[in-house]
Amino acid sequence: MSTATLNSKTIQMSDEQFTKLSEIIYTRSGINFQINKKYILESRLGRRLNELKMDGYDEYIMFLTIGPYRDDEFQEMFNRITINETSFFRNVPQLELFERVALPKIIESKGASKRLRFWSAACSSGEEPYTLAMMLHRTLGVRFPDWNIEILGTDISQKVLDVAAKGVYTN
Ligand SMILES: C[S@@+](CC[C@H](N)C(=O)[O-])C[C@H]1O[C@@H](n2cnc3c(N)ncnc32)[C@H](O)[C@@H]1O
Repeated sequence: MSTATLNSKTIQMSDEQFTKLSEIIYTRSGINFQINKKYILESRLGRRLNELKMDGYDEYIMFLTIGPYRDDEFQEMFNRITINETSFFRNVPQLELFERVALPKIIESKGASKRLRFWSAACSSGEEPYTLAMMLHRTLGVRFPDWNIEILGTDISQKVLDVAAKGVYTN
């Protein structure tokens, strides 16, 4: 059984606790943790139990499910348990198809309004919507300033959205 550490004590998450927690997480977010990812919840939420000075997951489950809606705690949790891997031009074959095939057709179909709207629905720290902006810029070229373009980025983790909003990257 994998474990997380609370000071010198070890906090174990039973399979039953994992089932309850993963159901709570799924209901609030749609994120589906399978039992083979229990170690992720244990390691990331074990530290949270430490901060909250809780002795075990039963207490945490009660905290999440009894009483107020606990939006702040769920946000804290999502900041910790989401896997935010991303990069500029991350999925090259997919993006090439989008840029060469789909985007010209979309642009052509919107030619009368010159208005484009995109939604990067789980944008992590923003590399995906900025990639989209770069593709739009090079596809439209000199026509770019004539277009009204909106790119919306959303994510369940506020921590990564804060990085996206700054828009400062090291690579
Ligand atoms: C692996 S990243 C992918 C980022 C980006 N789309 C890309 O492909 O580079 C997955 C993102 O989905 C977000 N996510 C997971 N469940 C979500 C939900 N229910 N609503 C919004 N974002 C969610 C996570 O926080 C994470 O940042």
